Amino acid sequence: MTLLHTPPSVLPADWYGAAPAPIGVDQAFNGYVAATVVHTLDRLGVLDRLADEPRLDITKFVLDAGPAVRERVVREVLRAAAVCGWVRLEDDGDTAVLTDAGRETVRMRGYFTWAVGGYSELFAGAARLATGEATFGADLLRDEAMVALGSGQNDRSFMAGTLDDVLAGVDFRTIADLGSGISARVSRVVGARPGTRGLGLDISGPATELGHRTIAEAGLEDRVRAVQADVLDVCHREAHRDAIAEVDTVMSFFLLHDLLADPVTRPQLFTRLREAFPAARTFVLADTMLRPDAEHSTSLPVFSLGYELAHALMGVPLHTKETYEELFAAADLHPVRTVAFGTPHSWLYVLEAR
Ligand SMILES: C[S@@+](CC[C@H](N)C(=O)[O-])C[C@H]1O[C@@H](n2cnc3c(N)ncnc32)[C@H](O)[C@@H]1O
Repeated sequence: MTLLHTPPSVLPADWYGAAPAPIGVDQAFNGYVAATVVHTLDRLGVLDRLADEPRLDITKFVLDAGPAVRERVVREVLRAAAVCGWVRLEDDGDTAVLTDAGRETVRMRGYFTWAVGGYSELFAGAARLATGEATFGADLLRDEAMVALGSGQNDRSFMAGTLDDVLAGVDFRTIADLGSGISARVSRVVGARPGTRGLGLDISGPATELGHRTIAEAGLEDRVRAVQADVLDVCHREAHRDAIAEVDTVMSFFLLHDLLADPVTRPQLFTRLREAFPAARTFVLADTMLRPDAEHSTSLPVFSLGYELAHALMGVPLHTKETYEELFAAADLHPVRTVAFGTPHSWLYVLEAR
């Protein structure tokens, strides 16, 4: 690979965000309710329909959805979406028309799948967590499938182009995706390059199940495999060594902070990863990193506050960009490319193993 490493110096404008801090009480309250509206419409399949065709015939939608569906509830949630300005109700309230603001919300819906679908139990239970009445992982859980699904939605909406551009410069035959979620990314990447193979590893049973479905729907069962596995077992306990012997390129998105959680194993993580994938010469790694000076910012971007709070509640420390780069260097992984990767404060590195 001959790319020169030119670290970007200017952060994308949307990483600072436009939501004011301090947040007004009205904004905070309405934001909470509005987030549940987005997630509900997404789960009902309304956002998929509006993404395809910006006019939704509500009566027909309810009829198509089946006899169990409660029309009154669907209409009330759409009415709330109209109050938020995301749809306009026309034809005496029988047609929902997507607005420009609604189009942007559809594009970013993965954040709401992540927050409302994935972490609402944790956020709602934070007081019980603080008082010791509840423990994360025992009585308070995140919904792993929703976390993976939200990530996958964001990938499709606004990250795929950046990754495809980066991978165009990477020559691979067998690529592994660590923390592959619903295996959407590994399927897309392998599907686009004839003759290649892919392996998705994810700790979550429900996400791996969704992964099998994604792979089957893409018709890639002969070339892509989704395996339920803890990447830390692969690194530290030599699990799944046969499956990974062929892997020449390793990618991982939005998982590294979990793998780096334990301060004891953190300094060696990338060295162990290199040992676990002995044939891999290229590592394409992306993660969301700690925002510089978060407490003094006068505006908030999407996602960052939720990401920081959720991980603080789970006891998973986050790290600065500098820390990641020090850890890469300690494992002799050299960045040949660094790009901003969609979600605020997320960076994607192409690293060469030397
Ligand atoms: C935020 S999601 C990202 C999913 C996917 N990489 C994407 O970007 O769409 C993190 C994923 O890592 C998985 N995960 C967390 N810890 C893991 C571990 N130790 N080994 C393997 N997968 C893990 C989770 O189940 C989840 O699917």
